Amino acid sequence: MSQTSDLVAARVRDVPDFPKPGIVFKDIAPLLADGAAFRSLVDDIAQRYTGQVDVVAGIEARGFIFGAPVALALGVGFVPIRKAGKLPGDTIASTYSLEYGSAEVEVQSDAFASGARVLLIDDVLATGGTAAAACDLIERGGAKVSAIEFVIELGFLDGRDRLPQRPVNAILTV
Ligand code: PRP
Repeated sequence: MSQTSDLVAARVRDVPDFPKPGIVFKDIAPLLADGAAFRSLVDDIAQRYTGQVDVVAGIEARGFIFGAPVALALGVGFVPIRKAGKLPGDTIASTYSLEYGSAEVEVQSDAFASGARVLLIDDVLATGGTAAAACDLIERGGAKVSAIEFVIELGFLDGRDRLPQRPVNAILTV
């Protein structure tokens, strides 16, 4: 494990039976509460993409927490990918399946410059449905997905299978 993954592993708390019985929730609050660790994580991600991306996109809600500081560190802009119904003006939507039912994410139609190289960031890769829908939005918005970064990957859910041929990196895989 890298130093950064050790630092994340030590600051993520397992919360059993949240939000539903049988689910073990990965609580990132201790990581966010530690300013030095949070900064190291952001710097670790940013330094690997210096000069290589034009914009960072983050997925609501926890992808915003990591995506915005990475964008600042890189000196590029930030695009929020939001749950349906939150963004004004023309939007593009993508629906994805959940264990029961479906969900939708949206981005503003003019969010990306044509051909922009996008670094997509979220906190957790679980089944991969959310990230796959976000990639769909980025590409339909005229940009390209240069890389996808997750803080935590739940490896046993095989979420990478829904992101074939994508450059995916997770700081910590459990
Ligand atoms: C969580 C997590 C990812 C997504 C991963 O978000 O932050 O965005 O689920 O799941 P998947 O890989 O199975 O699609 P959630 O939907 O709980 O929303 P929130 O961040 O707004 O709480």
